[in-house]
Amino acid sequence: MPFCRLRPGDVWKDSAMGHRIACVDACSADGIAALMGGERAQLAVHDPPYNLVAFEQQALDDYIAWCKGWIETTLQHLCDDASLYVWLGADQNNGFQPLPDFMVMMRSVSQLRPRSFITMRNQRGYGTQKNWMAVRQELLYYVRGNPSFSTQYTEIPKILRGYYKEVNGERKENLQRSRSKNIRPGNVWVDVQQVFYRMQENVAGCYAQKPLAAIDRIVSASSEAGDIVIDFFAHSGTTLLSCERLQRKCFTADIDPIYCEVAIRRLERFRQTELTGWQNGHPFEPELGDEVMAEEREDAPTNSEKGRQYSLF
Ligand SMILES: C[S@@+](CC[C@H](N)C(=O)[O-])C[C@H]1O[C@@H](n2cnc3c(N)ncnc32)[C@H](O)[C@@H]1O
Repeated sequence: MPFCRLRPGDVWKDSAMGHRIACVDACSADGIAALMGGERAQLAVHDPPYNLVAFEQQALDDYIAWCKGWIETTLQHLCDDASLYVWLGADQNNGFQPLPDFMVMMRSVSQLRPRSFITMRNQRGYGTQKNWMAVRQELLYYVRGNPSFSTQYTEIPKILRGYYKEVNGERKENLQRSRSKNIRPGNVWVDVQQVFYRMQENVAGCYAQKPLAAIDRIVSASSEAGDIVIDFFAHSGTTLLSCERLQRKCFTADIDPIYCEVAIRRLERFRQTELTGWQNGHPFEPELGDEVMAEEREDAPTNSEKGRQYSLF
């Protein structure tokens, strides 16, 4: 594959912070063992393909069996006290698959306990004229054992009063009692900007890029500095970049050498420039120039609406 440093099976090791990127299948026990090198992670953040895109869609049973495969490789390399987050979708035009089927499958994974079902609100959606606009991104949170959890806060100020309680004989309302002037995100996140092409963190060609703010929230809540965080579906390398910024070590993988290269380049670019993406440019500009994405920039949709853009390789 031109311009890609990794071939299938390769593991790239970062000498500065100890991150790793492997070009392996998330279900491959040998491939993931090579990535981990005997180390175990405190946190897993997985964002697999959702089985929604027509040309990638498989039979639901096959998709769920595939999910079970990467849950197994994950469990082999998680600490006894660890957190697992999984982003997944529900196709309203097809029985809401695969989210509920995945949730049911996870009931059979006795080592993991469900903890929360989070919904993140996108700013753009579809189906606005004859249906409720589809703006949800679903995120499942499971734990093994008893991992740490740090409370997170949004930048949204608390404005509602009225929850009175007696403290040391004095009647106090909730704003006086609270630890922060801002509200917590809870399990409905309305304050995260969806990635779109005008944002600095945009990585053109990565159709399924998650916002750094969302991954930062997960990494901050469920890991500590120096911990190992795994993500077996790297794509644009959002978890890798979040770990770089928050001083965690990220061991990440993608089956596609192109996305492994994109993730490496995003990390390198951040270290050189402190920029989190390319905004209107793209990771392969040195080789391909800036015209490759020019058409895409015209009336560019959000990342989630795009198909894969690097098929030219
Ligand atoms: C939804 S994207 C992940 C997006 C990522 N969270 C981000 O913010 O950029 C899914 C990625 O999984 C990769 N992938 C698909 N099947 C895989 C497999 N069996 N093993 C590893 N990676 C796979 C795809 O190449 C794609 O890059």
